Amino acid sequence: MKPTTMLAAVAGILAPVASAVPSPSRVAGRTATGSGPLGLLTVDDTHRFFPAQAMKISSASSGSQSNGTDPEGQCLTPTAAKDDDCAAAIGNLHSYPGNVTVQTGLCYNWWEGSCLVKVCSTSGSFSENAAHIADTMTTTLLGPCVKAQGKSGVDSDCAAVDTQCGTYRWWLTQYGGEYDLPA
Ligand SMILES: *[C@@H]1O[C@H](CO)[C@@H](O)[C@H](O)[C@H]1NC(C)=O
Ligand SMILES: *[C@@H]1O[C@H](CO)[C@@H](O)[C@H](O)[C@H]1NC(C)=O
Repeated sequence: MKPTTMLAAVAGILAPVASAVPSPSRVAGRTATGSGPLGLLTVDDTHRFFPAQAMKISSASSGSQSNGTDPEGQCLTPTAAKDDDCAAAIGNLHSYPGNVTVQTGLCYNWWEGSCLVKVCSTSGSFSENAAHIADTMTTTLLGPCVKAQGKSGVDSDCAAVDTQCGTYRWWLTQYGGEYDLPA
């Protein structure tokens, strides 16, 4: 069979299957511009969004971190994330039903336009009410970091965010289409 004939044959087989698959933009509640409320579970791929060196600098310069259950944000590196997109991405997380539950080494992700929210576990099963995480991130990261300084940020129960210490990381950073589905 010539390659072109073979391609035509393959296309003939795939066409009916493809038409039965829902439009990618609607898979798992995704919209044209964002994740929708259900988010996307991934391995902890935080390194794709923050160069290791940037995190070391930030953790070395953090001073206000407490160890308690009331987290304070650390502002990180300059970001192109727009504050209205971040408000919308946090709004997607806010609409997630009930608790966000993540196991070690995994993250849940919500995004809108230029902004990404990542909720990751560094130790054990992390579970927290979605609206509570969203409200906290609005107070500790959206205002002080993105709006006030044009910087990304993270909430954690441990200051050295470039290590595996503590139990969780809530990141607010730039989204560049990393989780977009093919058109
Ligand atoms: C936080 O925990 C670290 C490691 O256990 C400790 O060195 C540090 O003093 C603690 N900081 C506060 C504010 O409690
Ligand atoms: C939701 O998270 C909170 C805070 O961690 C926890 O106390 C509660 O048990 C969780 N609820 C469920 C149903 O997992």
